[in-house]
Formats: sequence, structure tokens, C-alpha cells
Amino acid sequence: MARAAADWVTRLDSGVAALYEPLLRAGARGSGSRMIIAIDGPAASGKGTIARRIAARYRLPHLDTGLLYRATAAALIAEGRDLHDEAGAVAVARGLGLTDFNEATLRTRQMGEAASVVAAMPRVRAALIEAQRAFAARPGGAVLDGRDIGTVICSDADVKIFVTASPAARAQRRALELIQRGERADYNAILADITRRDSRDSNRAVAPLRPADDAVMLDTTQLGIDAASAEALRIVEAARIRV
Ligand code: DC
Repeated sequence: MARAAADWVTRLDSGVAALYEPLLRAGARGSGSRMIIAIDGPAASGKGTIARRIAARYRLPHLDTGLLYRATAAALIAEGRDLHDEAGAVAVARGLGLTDFNEATLRTRQMGEAASVVAAMPRVRAALIEAQRAFAARPGGAVLDGRDIGTVICSDADVKIFVTASPAARAQRRALELIQRGERADYNAILADITRRDSRDSNRAVAPLRPADDAVMLDTTQLGIDAASAEALRIVEAARIRV
């Protein structure tokens, strides 16, 4: 398990190009058609890395929709407001651009937790729908990753992948990520965070985390990042052949 987890954080950008090249040469993006790819899954499942790689290989724009909720939460915290202040959060969400994110500030454990709280408020989600759909409607298509892309934001996406992994595997990856950045990692605290966030994201009333009926499941518990990315690419290719 430890080796598989280390694989996720040490080989993020290695080795898969050779696998993808034949597909790219074969015109993987299609002949001018639009391809919308929805990638959902829980925290630390690998969906973000997989989405980035798929977007790069098909030369599609990519939106990590978690950043929208993180940025909303960060603005509330910066203004000293309560995270449950729905009206305040809606106002922030409406004013968000899709590119002006300070990722170093937003990608912390604290911000993930705060984002999950903000994301449970129906009016905040409603305020963010149109911007996400506009992003998906770009001429060549797009790759979006999050929790509700396949179920709500792009329910007619050409490809839907739901990426999962056991909570233990996800916690181990997060812990190794922190250690490699020279930070302290408390595995049990990380596992507790992940479990709490899974539960909040899955049990909220609006747009809960769940696979769309037509999503392909990708369990990465036993896979390294390269194998998981290759499998995701195979799923995209299989869907393209069907269309
Ligand atoms: O993917 P992430 O860990 O950056 O997301 C942070 C939180 O934002 C997550 O716990 C739930 C929420 N979120 C959401 O509700 N819907 C999305 N499409 C993306 C994220």
C-alpha cells in the first residue's frame, strides 16, 4: 500500500506520454467535434491529477470546480464572516472569476473543510452553476472535475468517470504529499478529515457526491497514478468510439 501511495505523489508527471501518443496521433480529440468530460469523486481520489492529464492530452481546457468552493470559503474567512452566512457566500460566489485563484492558499486542509461547508448551501451551488456550464460549453469542449459534474453541471457530458479509492489509501496519499512538501502529517487526523468530508459531501440535500447512473467507475485503490490515468484514458476512448 505504501508503495502504491508513494507512486501517486512521486511520479505525477512521468511516463504516460508514450501510452497516449498513439491515441493522439489517431486524432483522439475527434474531427472538430465537442467533447465534454466529467470527472467526479471524493477528496484525494486522484480525480484532479487524472483530469489535468486528460485535459493536457486532448488539449482541452480544464476546470477544477473544487477551487470555486474553496475560493468562496477563503473570501468569507478573509472577511471574518461566518462560513454558514449563505447570503454572504452567494455574493462572493457570484463575483468569482474562473481563473484568478491563488492555489497555494486554497489547497490547504483547512480550506478543503471550509469549502465542503460552503458547498452544502443550495444557493451557493446555484450561484456557481452558470459559470461552470459556460466553461463546459467552450467550442472544443472541456474537462471539469468535482462532485456533481456528471449528475448536475454536465448531465449530458460525453464521458463521465467516477474516481474512487478507499479512505485509507486516500489518507495515505495525502499524508505522503505533505511529508514530501516538508510538512508534518498526522495520518489519523487526515483520515478523520477525509471521512468527515466524504460524509458531508455525500449526505447534503443538494447535488450530493454520487456517481451519475451512466458514469464509469474507476477505483484507484490498487493503482499507481500512471495506471489510473491510462485507465481513465481508455474509458474516454471507449466512449468516443460509442458516440
Ligand atoms: O475537490 P476539492 O477537494 O477541492 O473540493 C473541496 C470541496 O468543495 C469538497 O469537499 C466539496 C466541494 N465541491 C462540491 O461540492 N462540488 C464540486 N463540484 C466540487 C467541490
